Amino acid sequence: MKKFTNESLLKITTYLEEALKTTTSLSFVVPNPDQENNRNFKTWVNLAELHFCTVLTPKFIDKNFIQLTFKKLNQESSFHSAPIKNKEEKYGTDSIFFNINKNEHPTFLHAYKKALEAVKVEKRKHVLNLGINKGDEFELIQQLIEPKVFDNMSFVGIDHSKSALDFANKRFPKENVEFFQHDINSIKELNLEKSDLIISIGTLQSPSINYKPFLMSLVQEHLSHDGAFILGFPNSRWIDGELIYGAKAPNYPYSEMSLLYNDVIFAKKYLQQKKFRVTITGREYIFLTATKIGL
Ligand SMILES: C[S@@+](CC[C@H](N)C(=O)[O-])C[C@H]1O[C@@H](n2cnc3c(N)ncnc32)[C@H](O)[C@@H]1O
Repeated sequence: MKKFTNESLLKITTYLEEALKTTTSLSFVVPNPDQENNRNFKTWVNLAELHFCTVLTPKFIDKNFIQLTFKKLNQESSFHSAPIKNKEEKYGTDSIFFNINKNEHPTFLHAYKKALEAVKVEKRKHVLNLGINKGDEFELIQQLIEPKVFDNMSFVGIDHSKSALDFANKRFPKENVEFFQHDINSIKELNLEKSDLIISIGTLQSPSINYKPFLMSLVQEHLSHDGAFILGFPNSRWIDGELIYGAKAPNYPYSEMSLLYNDVIFAKKYLQQKKFRVTITGREYIFLTATKIGL
């Protein structure tokens, strides 16, 4: 079995790239990360991700060495490449996406929780979520705030996936939580009361939505004068259940972030013009949080 001692990271990554062309699982021995001056364990986790691998629990060899196994992620097991039968059900109960729980992913959880804190979610009255899917974004709010406060707020989630909404409805059998199966583009038809918090994660960049005019219409027609926004932009791909850093862009075999930056900066500039304080945070998901200045 290959054993690394003091090779450069360049040498190691080049070896891994070659070796992983012909195998889906590769074991090798490296200096024990718990010993001072050795590469730390995070280096190996990062390296595994960059090679589209998961890293298995290491095996202890002796006090100086451990054995690592990098296992290739199944890139077929990604909803990004799954064939689309019915566009409304692309993210429905039968999709690979449906089984993902973002709230169990530390970097997503951390950034979304911070965004909810920044907009003082517990002080909001009407929360609107566009592209709610199975309701994960309401679940975290429910976990974060007092039940009494949650029950006194109203929550509206919109999505065009019937199967995802059936699931969400069972999850929140509460009068103050409503789901509408509707095309977000024609949200006006629902005649909703204005919201003081609009959340949309991984949705507004969908091909079916004309992002810029739609975002402007949300601010002008659906947000109350003291309203806040939380927008989440994926800077990652879900592959074989793992969240892999880097936005997927059409026509590039690697992650490319121009579209992501364009869309985030458009929202930031527009909201600043409309007198919002805007922050941009996050990692695998970029979070734009906007709150009204002077309130
Ligand atoms: C990538 S998923 C994100 C779901 C959820 N916000 C999350 O991050 O887990 C996008 C969601 O938006 C919904 N969606 C996309 N375009 C839509 C449209 N035009 N009208 C209604 N729902 C739409 C999809 O059905 C899906 O549930």
